[in-house]
Amino acid sequence: MYSRVQGTGSYLPSRIMTNHELAEQVDTSHDWIVERTGIHQRHIAARHENSSDLALAAALQAISAAGIEADEIDLIVVATTTPDLVFPSTACLLQQKLGVANGCPAFDVQAVCSGFVYALSVADNFIRAGQAKFALVVGTETMSRITDWSDRSNCILWGDGAGAVILTASDTPGVISTHLHADGRYRDLLCVNGGVSSGADGAYAMRMQGSAVFKIAVKTLDAIVDETLAANNLQKSDINWLVPHQANIRIIQATAKKLGMSMNNVVVTVDKHANTSAASIPLALDTAVRDGRIRSGDVVLMEAFGGGFTWGSVLLKWV
Ligand code: UT7
Repeated sequence: MYSRVQGTGSYLPSRIMTNHELAEQVDTSHDWIVERTGIHQRHIAARHENSSDLALAAALQAISAAGIEADEIDLIVVATTTPDLVFPSTACLLQQKLGVANGCPAFDVQAVCSGFVYALSVADNFIRAGQAKFALVVGTETMSRITDWSDRSNCILWGDGAGAVILTASDTPGVISTHLHADGRYRDLLCVNGGVSSGADGAYAMRMQGSAVFKIAVKTLDAIVDETLAANNLQKSDINWLVPHQANIRIIQATAKKLGMSMNNVVVTVDKHANTSAASIPLALDTAVRDGRIRSGDVVLMEAFGGGFTWGSVLLKWV
């Protein structure tokens, strides 16, 4: 038993914040942001939009693209760093908003920017074990809510959005392999400096030692590419598409170089979406599926790196 992606969907809030707008708030410039990150703009959720609302819009598209009824979903996994509530989970809120009342399991996965890769791996394992047939896997984030908009070294990076896939049981792969890692020793390099259990005062926000994170991200993503290829006895040239986590164009270019891959075969959305954390890969995937770049038979490599640190990859064949 394998799993395969049967449909994709995504959602971006309508409000666009340009670099020029940001430059009116902090000491930065459009040119600096573009040169150092590749980002031109980001989408920002409206006050009434929470992560589960973004997830709902993306999920409805994925369900429609898969040609199934919401009630057929028998597993919901939501990757998010920015849940609506401490509990219930965003997955339970999404289940209710979708009107899925069949009692299927629904839970969140928290692996920050690697969240979607983690969630897809979890759902793939459920399906391989015969415990689910139609899994809804979502990455959804309202990173704008934990961004310190006065910290120019960090606030330029983030955006809001959601992406979703329906993962279906299949006789053939589909998902070829998944590889997940974490190393909590790096917790302080990229974190939110407060939380529920540690006593939140409501004033916490993301903190990042950007250039240290950058260097480790490039090295680690190099290693996950090697690990994924070796595990499947594949050559770099066997990969048709790289769908990377969209943190920084320079990190993406480094991974493409490692793969000996032209940027024409890399799905880039960081310019328009910025870093949407767990939502960035499914947003990029949906973009390239809908515009017809990713086609049946293509081998697609997804990879991500994020706070924790966490990192991982998913290799799949587009069916
Ligand atoms: O998705 C999860 C993982 N996250 C990442 O992968 C992000 C990784 N890090 C990065 O993308 C980059 O480190 C940043 C884009 C955050 C920063 O770029 P950088 O090239 O590493 O810059 P830096 O932090 O080394 O700073 C270089 C200079 C500094 O000035 P001095 O000390 O050289 O005078 C900063 O103060 O740039 C300055 N600077 C800025 N200048 C204009 C920092 N932020 C800004 C800014 N505008 N927004």
